[in-house]
Amino acid sequence: MPHFSSRFAGKTVVVTGAGSGIGRATAERLAAEGARVVASDIDPARLDAVELGAAGVKVAGDITQAAVVASVFDACEGRLDGLANVAGVMDGFLPIAEVDDETWDRVLAVNLTAVMRCTRAAVRLMEPAGAGAIVQVASEAGLRGSAGGVSYTAAKHAVIGLGRSAAFACKGTGVRVNVVAPGGVITGIDATPRSEKGFQSVMTVLMAAAPGLADAGDIAAAITWLLSDEAKNVSGAVLASDGGWSSI
Ligand SMILES: NC(=O)c1ccc[n+]([C@@H]2O[C@H](COP(=O)([O-])OP(=O)(O)OC[C@H]3O[C@@H](n4cnc5c(N)ncnc54)[C@H](O)[C@@H]3O)[C@@H](O)[C@H]2O)c1
Repeated sequence: MPHFSSRFAGKTVVVTGAGSGIGRATAERLAAEGARVVASDIDPARLDAVELGAAGVKVAGDITQAAVVASVFDACEGRLDGLANVAGVMDGFLPIAEVDDETWDRVLAVNLTAVMRCTRAAVRLMEPAGAGAIVQVASEAGLRGSAGGVSYTAAKHAVIGLGRSAAFACKGTGVRVNVVAPGGVITGIDATPRSEKGFQSVMTVLMAAAPGLADAGDIAAAITWLLSDEAKNVSGAVLASDGGWSSI
């Protein structure tokens, strides 16, 4: 049983995608370390199972809807110390020649536009308070062209740009913004291929270059460190947690 500190005692932290995988591990670790966690997920049944302690708040809804974003940040009651933008979906490995507009729009809406809206809402609460930390979850697909379909890859590259731009804009305000780029992680994410060609191309590179799969807790460790005051000198960073894959 790992020993957790009380790094987040008295702090309020929003976690999107908190119902499963990396988001759930992050939300539960933050709660175990003393945070009041505001947990968001589109799936109410998943959210029900998340253990946040008595102080936790659960907001079920689709984070691409502006009203849901408003409910999540209203639940912070004016105080927000951290935000982990974890919610994300994959794209069936559809390459450029095969991608349909519906897949592109949905993947960009969840993996990028919702991240911008949540980040904007968080910065508006944090800047007047002069403190706060935000972490975007990108992916190995944000660092290279060979780790997903075109929609997922474009969205994850853009999330890195969003994180860097926000870090630059918040410089000197006390608000930090960083990005975690996981390699392969064992989670509940739907990775069903919808393109044989796209899937095989990614798998060929992955089998040759990628190390084994990580646990969601490994990624939660990186996210919570960046959210904590221990990382107070770190902003605008892209932290790969991928067993060294990005070094190749
Ligand atoms: N699993 C991996 O190998 C891996 C690798 C790199 C990056 N990532 C990224 O990590 C993040 C978390 O993924 P995971 O693997 O833990 O997946 P997961 O499916 O286990 O968890 C993601 C959660 O987000 C929720 N969600 C999806 N769309 C939503 C929406 N519109 N509104 C609110 N909630 C929504 C889902 O219901 C789910 O509970 C994603 O951004 C993903 O792209 C995952």
